[in-house]
Amino acid sequence: MPDDSPLQSQTPDALMLFGFWYRALPANKLRSGVLAKAMLLEQPLVMGRDQQGRPFTLRDACPHRGMPLSCGHFDGRQVECSYHGWRFDAHTGQCQLIPSLVPGQTLKIDRIYAGSYPSEERDDFIWVFLPDPGPAGAGFSKPAPAPTPAPEIPKFSEHYKLAYLTADLPCSVDHGIIGLMDPAHGPFVHQAWWWRSQHSIHEKQKNFEPIPYGFRMSAHTPSSNSAPYKLLRLYADADSITTTIDFVLPNLRSEIIRAGKYWFSSLTTVTPVTRNQCRIDVVAAWNLFRWIPFGPQLLKFVFAKFVEQDRRTMELQSEGLKHNPHLMLIDDADRPAKWYFGLKNAMLEVKKNGGEFRHPMSGSVTLRWRS
Ligand code: FES
Ligand SMILES: [Fe+2]
Repeated sequence: MPDDSPLQSQTPDALMLFGFWYRALPANKLRSGVLAKAMLLEQPLVMGRDQQGRPFTLRDACPHRGMPLSCGHFDGRQVECSYHGWRFDAHTGQCQLIPSLVPGQTLKIDRIYAGSYPSEERDDFIWVFLPDPGPAGAGFSKPAPAPTPAPEIPKFSEHYKLAYLTADLPCSVDHGIIGLMDPAHGPFVHQAWWWRSQHSIHEKQKNFEPIPYGFRMSAHTPSSNSAPYKLLRLYADADSITTTIDFVLPNLRSEIIRAGKYWFSSLTTVTPVTRNQCRIDVVAAWNLFRWIPFGPQLLKFVFAKFVEQDRRTMELQSEGLKHNPHLMLIDDADRPAKWYFGLKNAMLEVKKNGGEFRHPMSGSVTLRWRS
């Protein structure tokens, strides 16, 4: 899709991108010795921590007869299925024991695998790598390592605070993502007396540039109606404040605000749970107000308001979307959404037919809108 495409209708499809890391669970939801269930891209998962506290993830279906492994038992090393007691290594998924075998029966149990997924703990979340699916009916084999480490929030000093927020959204990942990057809903959805009203709407102009698998709102002095900006302004001279916002496939929005030695950095993800359900996770790190004990709670409170306003909006929107309406993306306010679909289609094309990734942007673009 060229980036100068005219007004067009577009129904987002709900294809999900495999071959990437996704946030699965907040790290504190995964306790040692307990099995937890999760769902990513319609894949049922069972997760836990080994004796050293390292996270692991298996497909939540026994390779014998499909019993959810989350119904089984975990001893800190192996997961035992509750149906016939087969045991699997928690990290590799390799079968270790089949209790029904008698001496002389030569089934090679070490060739049997429960599906396992690379798992990493980063910034208060457990990330899981979901590889591209193998050929249908091939079953699982020895797991391949992930090609890259899990994404991490950029940090600019040794000491910082970290907080997260999470909310379920009753819509496809595409609506979740374009809702996140949509600049025009602010004055209508995010009203509050201490924040802004519809009357604060004014014209804005921002430069965007292509980056690998994504786009960047180039470093600029942030708009006067951004929460971290208001906090930072208490500390630093407003002109020294710059912010950069990146979106990168499959679902990563990172925002970095810097003012001298102070910084605020966040990594927001919208994760497909099923085709018509997703989850937004906002994780922020910062070195302001570190000495105020309620700093994280205050920030969480402010962000929770925003996320709740977005969640409520998408809940209402999902009512309208049930009837499959014709949709429009308009210039310039919906141009980032068009880029998102262009990037996703380019990625799906590479996965299907190989070849080079064709970025939908050919160079820098200035967008103008009122918000
Ligand atoms: S279904 Fe799991 S051991 Fe049989
Ligand atoms: Fe919003």
